[in-house]
Formats: sequence, C-alpha cells, structure tokens
Amino acid sequence: MSGGRTVPADITAAAIASFEGCGDERLRTLAQALARHLHEFAAEVGLTQREWEDGIRVLTQTGHITDDRRQEFILWSDSMGLSMLVDALANPLPEGATESTVLGPFYVPGAPQREYGENIAEEPDAGTPAWVYGRVLDTEGNPVAGAELDVWQNGENQLYAVQDPEAEEDHLRGVFRTREDGTFAFVAVRPTPYTIPHDGPVGRMLQSTGRHPWRPAHIHMIVRAPGYRTLTTHIFDAESEYLDSDAVFAVKPSLVRQFEPRAADDPDRPAGVEGEWFSAESDFVLVPE
Ligand SMILES: [Fe+2]
Repeated sequence: MSGGRTVPADITAAAIASFEGCGDERLRTLAQALARHLHEFAAEVGLTQREWEDGIRVLTQTGHITDDRRQEFILWSDSMGLSMLVDALANPLPEGATESTVLGPFYVPGAPQREYGENIAEEPDAGTPAWVYGRVLDTEGNPVAGAELDVWQNGENQLYAVQDPEAEEDHLRGVFRTREDGTFAFVAVRPTPYTIPHDGPVGRMLQSTGRHPWRPAHIHMIVRAPGYRTLTTHIFDAESEYLDSDAVFAVKPSLVRQFEPRAADDPDRPAGVEGEWFSAESDFVLVPE
C-alpha cells in the first residue's frame, strides 16, 4: 500500500489475503470465500453502522437462547433455506432413490427399539392413529432386510416429546427394523402442522419480514442400513396446509403421501387401535454407499 486513500475494496482484499498462509487448503477456501461474500453482501446493500449493530445483537440473542433443547442457529439455517441447500449439495441422487430433507432441530438420538407394528405414542390423546407401512428397497427394487427406521413426530398438541415437559421422553419416537422382505410398519398419529419456535430471533425475523412460522404436517425418519447411504427424510401429509409455504423449505413433491381414512370396523385395523384411524404407505429407496 502506498500513501493513497483506502477504499472499501482494499479492506476486502486485505481480509481475503490474510488467509493466504492457511496450510489447510479446504479451510483456506472456506475462510476466503466467507470473507469475500460477507464483504460483497455489506457492499451490495450499503450496510449501515446501525444495521451492523442490529446484526450483532441478533447473533448474540441467538447464542443466548440456544441450549441443549433449543437450537436457534439451526433454525436460522432452516428458515433461510440453507439447510435444504446443504442437503441438496451433499446428496445428489440417482433416479428412483427417495429424496432427503432436513433433519430439523427435534431429533434426539437414542429412541427405543420397537417391534414391527408397535405404537410410538406413549401418551393418551396424542392424535388420530395412523398405520404407517411400506418397504425399504435398493435402487434395483430389492428389499433391504434389517434396515433401521428411526422415526419421530409431533402429536396433536403440535409438540415433539423433547419440547413437551409433560410427555414421556420416548413419546412419538422409536427405532424399527425391516423384516426379511424389507417391510416395516408402525402405529403413529396423523401428524399436524406446527410452528417452528418463533419466540426468539428467528421468530422476530419471520414477523418483521411478513413470513409465517408454520410447517406442513409430516413424520420424520432416518433410514440406515449397512452398505447404503443414510437417508434423512420426512413424509408429508397430502392434505396438510402449508405444503406450498413450509417455513423451512423442506417439502419435496415426491415425499407427499396420502393418509387414507379407515373405518373403526376395518378388518385391517391394527391391534390396540380404536375408533377412526388412517393409513399411509411409503417405500424408502436407499442408494448403495
Ligand atoms: Fe418436524
């Protein structure tokens, strides 16, 4: 630098150049691109001192509200569509494979192992029972035996067990294994739309930008089998509201399923289910590793 005035581009160049000595090539790429895009963002919008302060405050609040049960950083990522983008970049899929979608903030590892056909609702009045069934297959259509389906969902009160101090820890979640013919089944409840937590910084962003916090009704699952890529996905209820405006951009048309109404006296009624119920069929197609 020689005596002239410092212009914004000089500052950007210096910030990018500061990472030149980084010995880890990938880290250098990430750091330099982050600096470049951050600077371009500020320059493009003409970011003011006041807006910069607001941004710092939002990040600070995001840190303060985040704990073991509340992950506001993931909510930011989800509500900006970043989680879906990262997933799409990581999982380009061959034809026929089941599409992935976001993990979301309510997954808690260690759900109980459950038997074929078992009910995941541990609390009464969790919702209208839904028999969810199907097969886990490979891309050639062969059954995958012994695949693990790690399932979790919310109840009619809109809450996941992890959010609900009244609920048993294992309410509305469970790990199932496919049988020799690749089939699985469990009793869930018909899922219900719910809002992402909107009493924090992300909620204030949604409110002030005229967006809503709702997610369409869905059931989460992670499907794992040795030799296959792990699939993190949802099935969505075709009758749900908000399918076209999911607050976290997670809906893919191929993941939408019909929840068929079934009568109380239907001979296929699962054991332990009384009154009205639904059934939803969904196969999951895994990609070899
Ligand atoms: Fe969810």
